[in-house]
Amino acid sequence: MIINFFTNFCQSASAIKCPIVSSPRFLGTFQPTKDEFIKSPNISFCSSKGTDFYDNNALQFFNDTKDLKSMEPVCDEFINVLPENAEVLDAGCGSGRDSKYFMSKGLSVTAIDGSKELCELASENIGQEVLNLNYNQIPPSPKYDGIWACAALVHSSDEEMHQSINCMANALKDGGILQTNFKLGDKTIIDGKNRVQRYFNEQTLEKLFNEHPNLEIEKTWVTEDVLKRPDNDWLNVILRKKLSED
Ligand SMILES: C[S@@+](CC[C@H](N)C(=O)[O-])C[C@H]1O[C@@H](n2cnc3c(N)ncnc32)[C@H](O)[C@@H]1O
Repeated sequence: MIINFFTNFCQSASAIKCPIVSSPRFLGTFQPTKDEFIKSPNISFCSSKGTDFYDNNALQFFNDTKDLKSMEPVCDEFINVLPENAEVLDAGCGSGRDSKYFMSKGLSVTAIDGSKELCELASENIGQEVLNLNYNQIPPSPKYDGIWACAALVHSSDEEMHQSINCMANALKDGGILQTNFKLGDKTIIDGKNRVQRYFNEQTLEKLFNEHPNLEIEKTWVTEDVLKRPDNDWLNVILRKKLSED
């Protein structure tokens, strides 16, 4: 499986004119360093605006969100549609709360976040290096059974969101799962903390993912805000990557 992954990775990497780097780390459990993870110097960066708030308020955010046990039922929905011992990517992992939960359930987790400060706190929290990477630095090789992107896209512009979803979809195996969530509604606001907040409902969510025909919506459901903020329900979605035609 590891060899297959490496072969696939090399094919994808050469397709985007990336240097192919052979590393002994690929021979064991795949837990790449940041350099190994990126591979391509050609990948461009998303705007850093989505992560500025988290760099500037890392410790507060970490303390506020690291112990939210009420997220576990939403995590379980993800675990339940994955194969056993699945390989997952926690994209925008924040405190690492959910990575830690997935690891406790036997999943193999790679965690990334665009905020350097949060990566340091999260690495300590999960006992494993959290890679300081943007979503569009996710390598395009189809490696993951599942990508968990909890509240990970809520601060993105349309362009960034589509770019990030593309990167995530490319990194999923055929039949792999992307689970994400948005605040429920139909608006874009700047919140009290000066962050962009994107709201979606069933219709706008469908429209968003219509532009990603390789992903199929499998389930949507609404949950209450785990931080108990008023008027802040969340629309959760499970998407499955379609089997490629060849
Ligand atoms: C609302 S927080 C959610 C954190 C965590 N998933 C949770 O549920 O507690 C959004 C997270 O995504 C990260 N983030 C936002 N935009 C990003 C990007 N383009 N690339 C990588 N991380 C990003 C932020 O640094 C932050 O940790």
